[in-house]
Amino acid sequence: MDSYPVTITIDGPAASGKTTVGLMLARHIDYLFLDTGCMYRAVTLAALERGVSVEDEIGITHLTRRLEMDILPAGVESDGRHYTVLLNGADVTWALRGAEVDVNVSQVSTYAGVRADLVRRQRAIGERGRVVMVGRDIGTVVMPSATLKLYVTASKEERARRRWKELEGRFRDASYEQILAEIERRDQIDGNREVAPMRPASDAIIIDTTNRTPDEVIQDILALEPFQPAAQN
Ligand code: DC
Repeated sequence: MDSYPVTITIDGPAASGKTTVGLMLARHIDYLFLDTGCMYRAVTLAALERGVSVEDEIGITHLTRRLEMDILPAGVESDGRHYTVLLNGADVTWALRGAEVDVNVSQVSTYAGVRADLVRRQRAIGERGRVVMVGRDIGTVVMPSATLKLYVTASKEERARRRWKELEGRFRDASYEQILAEIERRDQIDGNREVAPMRPASDAIIIDTTNRTPDEVIQDILALEPFQPAAQN
């Protein structure tokens, strides 16, 4: 176990299955799971709550630097959460999934100052090791020397269908078509921004989860060389 890759990076577009896969993998090998998307969401929520315009790059950058952000294991909460996010001490775990955050987070994550601050926090966690870190630029920018990099993707129709199902009973007032359009819009912003655009690292292994269950995907990952007994010696 001790010779598994110290840091495993998982990047990929919205609703590609990277969080589900990352969580399952982290549990399986007893690693910390860190979803970096929730950090960009926390900044966005803080801006919305404080009335800082999402167009105000300088204001949002200052706000980010002052934010106290904590990501903790889910603990005793049994409301379906995978972890708990505290923003200046308040539990915002579900608020981060609201429609207003969804619509604005890609814009906020284009700002270089916001990224620099969050990348610094992410590296501090990554350097402690034994972590599965999930996002858009983890293999390319945050932990470029990680020894196992995965890029998890799926067709945009499949991703929209998953997001639509996921929102069932919670915040869902959008149609499948609206969710698909929103996914296309976010892919466009995340993939074309100037700073750290979403793309696979040159040494990433691409995993397409379209028409595959999370269990099948995990089996594929555990069949990779770094997890084989020979690689453990
Ligand atoms: O994975 P998610 O949908 O929770 O991510 C929310 C947004 O944050 C996404 O639109 C892009 C941004 N993001 C990023 O730019 N870099 C990361 N490492 C993680 C997320």
